[in-house]
Amino acid sequence: MNIMIMGSGGREYSMGRMLSQEHRVEQLYFAPGNGATSSLGENVAIDDYEALADFARNKDIDLTIVGPEAPLVDGVVDIFKARGLHIFGPSKAAARLEGSKVYMKNFLAKYDIPTARYMETDHIDEAFAFIRTLPTPVVVKADGLCAGKGVIIAQSHDEAKQAVSQMLSGKSFGDAGKKVVIEEFLDGYELSMFAICDGKDYILLPAAQDHKRLLDNDEGPNTGGMGAYAPTPLVNDAIYEKVKTRIIRPTLEGMQAEGTPFEGVLFIGLMVVEGEPITLEFNVRFGDPECEVLMPLMKSPVSELFYKAATGDLSNLHVEFKKQYGVGVVMASRDYPYSSTEPAEIIVDEIVHEEVSEHAHIAYAGVREEDGTLYATGGRVLVCVGLGNSINEARERAYMLCGQVHFAGKKIRTDIAYQALAEA
Ligand SMILES: Nc1ncnc2c1ncn2[C@@H]1O[C@H](COP(=O)(O)OP(=O)(O)O)[C@@H](O)[C@H]1O
Ligand SMILES: [Mg+2]
Repeated sequence: MNIMIMGSGGREYSMGRMLSQEHRVEQLYFAPGNGATSSLGENVAIDDYEALADFARNKDIDLTIVGPEAPLVDGVVDIFKARGLHIFGPSKAAARLEGSKVYMKNFLAKYDIPTARYMETDHIDEAFAFIRTLPTPVVVKADGLCAGKGVIIAQSHDEAKQAVSQMLSGKSFGDAGKKVVIEEFLDGYELSMFAICDGKDYILLPAAQDHKRLLDNDEGPNTGGMGAYAPTPLVNDAIYEKVKTRIIRPTLEGMQAEGTPFEGVLFIGLMVVEGEPITLEFNVRFGDPECEVLMPLMKSPVSELFYKAATGDLSNLHVEFKKQYGVGVVMASRDYPYSSTEPAEIIVDEIVHEEVSEHAHIAYAGVREEDGTLYATGGRVLVCVGLGNSINEARERAYMLCGQVHFAGKKIRTDIAYQALAEA
């Protein structure tokens, strides 16, 4: 089977890493990939979707997997499908679950799926009136894609009003902020759940937890994610059951009823409040770095899972996961998340501990390759992933590996998985 992965981050590297180990996978392509994916397969420098579809046809690519949200929201899946090509991801219409928070919230309300009480509007007076009815903090969200920066947790009504004014005037996020969602603040703990969907059926992956803030103890600015682990002991069978019956099932049925069945990765951002899972948001692709810890936990072939999902054939598939834990620690560059950092050579020590060489690995993200040397190119550079029979063991291995990877300005959080360890 020939497979192409769209995207260039650690998420795409981690999928490619698993696929490259499967016998049935012959050739792997990354579009555009990064400086390390070129050692797993071939990087393809085509960004036009039509041209990429031509490439897929010419190279007999059996399956294309879309990593990031932007091409999905742009409709890359529709373009590939119109040519009879298999592609794993939601259609443009279904990708609105992530592309528009207004669409997503209205969908949740229509199908009675638990979510925070809200209003959506493009009218400042309406917005202000609703804000006055809510206790503080108040959550204000821009409608469109904002690369994780479009949500303001306002500590006062004044701050909420200011955020709304800035968004509606187009000052903070341009067109993405021309409509807003205002909602009540939910006080609980956050989880990420991922359902691989084929439109009708789904396979639920082990629940993960991300760490969005830059600094230990969840302090500092928001980032794309500084580390993740799975499965999290913060989920029990009762919560899984509620997520399946109250959120995933009605979402798949609702999307079918809307005439836009959901195929691809349904990423459910959850807040658990007093044991009740409440939907914060949907994304329509894997989380990064959650993907980097979930992929290596897969025991069944990843190619089969994605291929069957892309061809509407999940109903009889049985997927097994390793009875292990994964912990991923992101190594970011010096100026992340504020600005870019000048390239720095990456040096990985000779790994002599079997503990690390056998049970830990690197998922590369922001890297460039030049004459056999890898350079950190800014942002989130790589993820050190450890596997183990306990969260503690996986975590120790991930951090041991972190100690053996070097580049100028490297920055990590030292407390990944702390909520799970506090639980133990
Ligand atoms: N209603 C809410 N109550 C409490 N925290 C929230 C709420 N909505 C969002 N958040 C916080 O803001 C973060 C970003 O919001 P989210 O809806 O996931 O948007 P995005 O990921 O598109 O920025 C969440 O991960 C969560 O920490
Ligand atoms: Mg989110």
